[in-house]
Amino acid sequence: MAEVGTDIQKASTYLNQGQLVAIPTETVYGLAGNALDVKAVSAIFETKNRPSFDPLILHVASLEQVKPFVSSFPEKLKRLAEAFWPGPLTVLLPRNASVPDLVTSGLDRVAVRVPNHPLTLSLLAQLDFPLAAPSANPFGYISPTQAGHVDAQLGTQIPYILDGGACAVGLESTIVGMEGEQVVIYRLGGLELSKIESLVGPVTVQAHSSSNPSAPGQLASHYAPRKPFLVGELNELVPKLTQEGKAFGVLSFSTHFPTLTSDRQFVLSPSQDLQEAAQRLFMGMRLLDESEADLILAEFVPEIGLGRAINDRLKRAAAQPTH
Ligand code: TXA
Ligand code: MG
Repeated sequence: MAEVGTDIQKASTYLNQGQLVAIPTETVYGLAGNALDVKAVSAIFETKNRPSFDPLILHVASLEQVKPFVSSFPEKLKRLAEAFWPGPLTVLLPRNASVPDLVTSGLDRVAVRVPNHPLTLSLLAQLDFPLAAPSANPFGYISPTQAGHVDAQLGTQIPYILDGGACAVGLESTIVGMEGEQVVIYRLGGLELSKIESLVGPVTVQAHSSSNPSAPGQLASHYAPRKPFLVGELNELVPKLTQEGKAFGVLSFSTHFPTLTSDRQFVLSPSQDLQEAAQRLFMGMRLLDESEADLILAEFVPEIGLGRAINDRLKRAAAQPTH
């Protein structure tokens, strides 16, 4: 298992040596390496078992630190970055030659964000390179929102996990870019659309499910537990599957089912608070995936605010892998 701790100096030393370190962010934990060191970036892909066509996000300490890596910063995207960084927003910008091809999978744009976590911000401030960091989970599995989640899956492959506690947002960043004059959302995430639209007007959402996506976060099956995952009407499914004698677990928005034991159910937010539901979603999916249940039943939350991103993750968790 990896060493788990809060020592920024230690994390910095490993990263300077070209090794990988798991870092906390407000969204999910990242598997970080020196973005300008092709060996470190290759190690990220290997450790995650991630296909090299799936590009990585550059994490930097401030908007100022983005400049060396991009050829322009469209005005609308700059407005968003100024308003929401540090925060759960990733911006796709025209890259320049200082970004290794492996980071962008050869694409013309590079994804950048300033994460909002005090430990990671101080770490980034003392490094003289940006960190490439995908979510710190094996490719396709649920993203980690606690240091222990990272340790359980990647702990034998990395020397150090910087422990920043439970992630406050709990969903990956919202990804935005421009197509002509239009602001496009490529992944629904921790920053609500309404906040983006209040600054730049109506946006196009391209975060649809696809088996041939332009961003693999758009893959129909992603963020998925290992157990069969079914989204539907819990009030009908629970009695039906109980009668059939099925060993199922339940991920509900706010309903507690008195007929089920506590290890077989996870309530996202008893008070129906979407922010709390988002923060607890991946933890709940993991707990049920690790339980004795044979399958997991879930329900959609209201399709408003963060509810859109939560429902997007539920749909992808339920999709059958195409490979
Ligand atoms: O919240 C987050 O964004 C977390 C934390 C660690 O920062 N990171 C994260 O990274 O979710 P990852 O690699 O799991 O997801 C990044 C997504 C992928 O779906 C990738 O395809 C897309 O961003 N992406 C990255 N660079 C891109 C690019 N140049 N063009 C299009 N999509 C890109
Ligand atoms: Mg990911």
